[in-house]
Amino acid sequence: MSRTPFIAGNWKMHGTIAEAEQLVQALLPRVAAAPCDIAVCVPFTALQAVVDSVRGSGVAVYAQNMHHAEKGAFTGEVSAAMLGELDVDGVVLGHSERRQLFGETDKALQLKVPAALDAGLEVILCVGETEDERENGDTERRLRHQVQEGLEKVPAERLGDVVIAYEPIWAIGTGNVATPEQAQDALAFVRALVADRDKEQAERTRILYGGSVKADNAAELLALPDCDGALVGGASLDAEQFAAIVDAAPQR
Ligand code: 13P
Repeated sequence: MSRTPFIAGNWKMHGTIAEAEQLVQALLPRVAAAPCDIAVCVPFTALQAVVDSVRGSGVAVYAQNMHHAEKGAFTGEVSAAMLGELDVDGVVLGHSERRQLFGETDKALQLKVPAALDAGLEVILCVGETEDERENGDTERRLRHQVQEGLEKVPAERLGDVVIAYEPIWAIGTGNVATPEQAQDALAFVRALVADRDKEQAERTRILYGGSVKADNAAELLALPDCDGALVGGASLDAEQFAAIVDAAPQR
């Protein structure tokens, strides 16, 4: 089965409304003819402005987190319905920064992933091991736990709708990109974990690599058999760099 490549830029906590609009205006003409799917993952406060700016362009807009409940006494949280009201297309869930710095648990993700899908949002579920886990030979155990927990309450027929981003934590923001072999092994392992639930859906599932993806290493990563795209951090804040990564996506 051919899967449309998907390049997503995670802006993290970067971008006032004015900066976000500037970045989008620089980006849109550079990716207008791209044959792949493209998303920008934007801070909450700039979502509305970016949704308005990209309208009609084919570029999708994602939030970077949400709460699983529809509403309630959850100070500081945002629900899927609130994102949907802004015409946001999707949401990044379980990014390692949320797991490591803000106590996001696999249990919480078990609820968030199906809640987002039910609300009509697309989902990028992030998984990945620490440097210690890799050195101790615990990478597969860690990935198995994260993928199984995150997808546990997703019905089998919807598994292929969840995009999974494999982001080794040691590669994020460090310049230490995974080797093609390390990336392919992990991406194939993640696909096999989805196949344990449903073989057909695993062929539909798009699995992205993330961690120090730049214009000069993107083509090699994106050519890997189980790599269906990239989740790009730092390089997504530069329209030219991000567009060059989009250009590196193979036409499938
Ligand atoms: P960098 O591309 O800056 O390493 O960040 C990757 C990432 O965390 C994307 O979600």
